[in-house]
Amino acid sequence: MDKKTFYITTPIYYPSGKAHIGHSYCTVASDAIARYKRMQGYDVMFLTGTDEHGQKIEINAEKAGVTPKQYVDKIVAGFQELWKLLNISNDRFIRTTDDYHVKAVQKIFRTLYDKGEIYKGTYEGWYCTPCESFWTETQLKDGKCPDCGREVKKANEEAYFFRLSNYADRLLKLYEDQPDFIQPDSRKNEMINFIKQGLEDLCVSRTSFTWGIPVDFDPKHVVYVWLDALTNYITALGYGSDDDSDYRKYWPADVHFVGKEIVRFHTIIWPAMLMALDLPLPRQVYGHGWLLFGDGTKMSKSKGNVVDPVILCNRYGVDAIRYFLLREIPFGADGVFTNEALISRINSDLANDLGNLLSRTTAMAEKYFGGAIPAERESAPVDDELIRTATELRQKCDSAIDGYQFSAALTEIWKLIARTNKYIDETMPWALGKDESKRARLAAVLYNLCESLRIVSVLIAPFLPDTAPKIQAQLGAKPEALTYESASEWGVLPADTVVRKGDTLFPRIDVDKEIEELNQLIPNPAEEKAPAETKKIEGLAQIGIDDFGKVELRVAKIVACEPVKRAKKLLKLTLDDGGDGRTVASGIAPWYKPEELTGRSIILVANLKPATLCGVESQGMILAADAGEDVKVIFVDGIPAGSRVR
Ligand code: ME8
Ligand code: MG
Repeated sequence: MDKKTFYITTPIYYPSGKAHIGHSYCTVASDAIARYKRMQGYDVMFLTGTDEHGQKIEINAEKAGVTPKQYVDKIVAGFQELWKLLNISNDRFIRTTDDYHVKAVQKIFRTLYDKGEIYKGTYEGWYCTPCESFWTETQLKDGKCPDCGREVKKANEEAYFFRLSNYADRLLKLYEDQPDFIQPDSRKNEMINFIKQGLEDLCVSRTSFTWGIPVDFDPKHVVYVWLDALTNYITALGYGSDDDSDYRKYWPADVHFVGKEIVRFHTIIWPAMLMALDLPLPRQVYGHGWLLFGDGTKMSKSKGNVVDPVILCNRYGVDAIRYFLLREIPFGADGVFTNEALISRINSDLANDLGNLLSRTTAMAEKYFGGAIPAERESAPVDDELIRTATELRQKCDSAIDGYQFSAALTEIWKLIARTNKYIDETMPWALGKDESKRARLAAVLYNLCESLRIVSVLIAPFLPDTAPKIQAQLGAKPEALTYESASEWGVLPADTVVRKGDTLFPRIDVDKEIEELNQLIPNPAEEKAPAETKKIEGLAQIGIDDFGKVELRVAKIVACEPVKRAKKLLKLTLDDGGDGRTVASGIAPWYKPEELTGRSIILVANLKPATLCGVESQGMILAADAGEDVKVIFVDGIPAGSRVR
């Protein structure tokens, strides 16, 4: 029987500047899915590439004094190197300057023209070059691009138009019939509102510059870059060329991963184009969130505030970066990138939880049994829960991955790691090792530790493809013990397995020293920005930095939240403050329900003198803003508990 296929794509990136951590985010996420699906037995097609035409690139090339093609060639090579460094397993890489793509786009344009879906007219309106987007006068916000807030240019030219306005009803029906077409749901509502405000025909050609695919029957026009770019998802499979067997095999795509700022292009223009061509639609467009700096600004080439993934990979290893990107931010939400959060994840999750588990296990296997764990093993009731947690893990990962929830999948895996570490404390192998009569029990404990690590290693492989084989080599596990099927089974490692302690997986990092060095390598724009104009606030005495320094602010996560019986306004919050934990009573009950707070991260004034409020001992306070009638808690989700705020 033919394997089931799975087709996943990233956006094709503009080579208008160096690839940065934001591009890496989406590409690593797609890679994890591609690898996971391959592990599950799918025949996967994983596509990425570059979107090389358009006015922005033409302008950049001119500034650099080279031809557009010379300009993009160099940057595209950088993208390809970065994907190699990040262990990206893409099956194909499309460049929109590739000959086969150019021809297919011309053919598609002509087909749409012949069908009357494209017609000739005049464009009068505004153009945002960084977004390569057209806008009407009324769509502008304060005379600027409504998407990015930058300057727009007047455009007035003869142009071809695509009859997008005809598709409003069919698009709304599509979202209704295929409720998962746009994910997450919040993005779907934005699109519905956008369509309900009225869809206009879309300008799909330009005559004011030349760096694009010429319309072959009217060559003073070049094809609008978004029309050129979106078709990559089918031209890369051979659509519109002589051999379209891959198109027939893999299309429609199972999912297009895209950043939230380009969901509109993928869920309105793209399906309308496919409808006009009578082609099947992709099953889903997933709009992921943005990687932000600590100050809340989006990292982007055009703002020049990008973190260099090459520097990070060289310092910490590829898997540490992949892990951070996938674990730190729930896919779909925005998340903050800070050097501190990165190092804290490396130290706690990778070096401590996973790395130590492996080194303790392999060291004990060598110490007590020379690496060969005896086949005579005595089990005990305490083993059962570990075994259950381990054998149920695969199912949990599968369902998290079905919803593209990387962070949830990794959280589940780390629960098993934590459970296994706890098992060492419970079974105390060092005590068993002192008692010759407990040899069979000691053998069982060590075997169970190895089995648990074996399952972990199989399931982390799609996320941490460098680390998984290192663990497997130390466990002495052979490929047949490392299949997807074996990840939900116990007792798979054969009796003749030989465990060998190897190198440390993730060396611990000295946080303070590292941050200092790193900040010198990677400018942190939050700190670099020119200090805001100092304005005196009326009626308030100014304080010095020393006064402010007395206030110890920390990130804390709300792990539980309940109303306080005797006080209507109070909520009792149980906080993970990165240390022993604490409770805080906060007068925010009129504005928040307990379930809206649980799981979220806030800023805690950590050195406030404790006080008892209506019977609750409050050990600190949390920060919130007075927003008119409302009180809004300051949320800082994604920053690890215990991080200092200053
Ligand atoms: O939009 N956080 O290309 P682009 C998270 N060529 N993801 C980010 C990010 C950030 N700070 N910055 C970039 C284009 N990305 C078009 C796409 S597709 C037919 C054409 C990721 O170079 C994110 O996936 O601006 C975003 O959608 C994509 O890079 C945009 O890359
Ligand atoms: Mg962009």
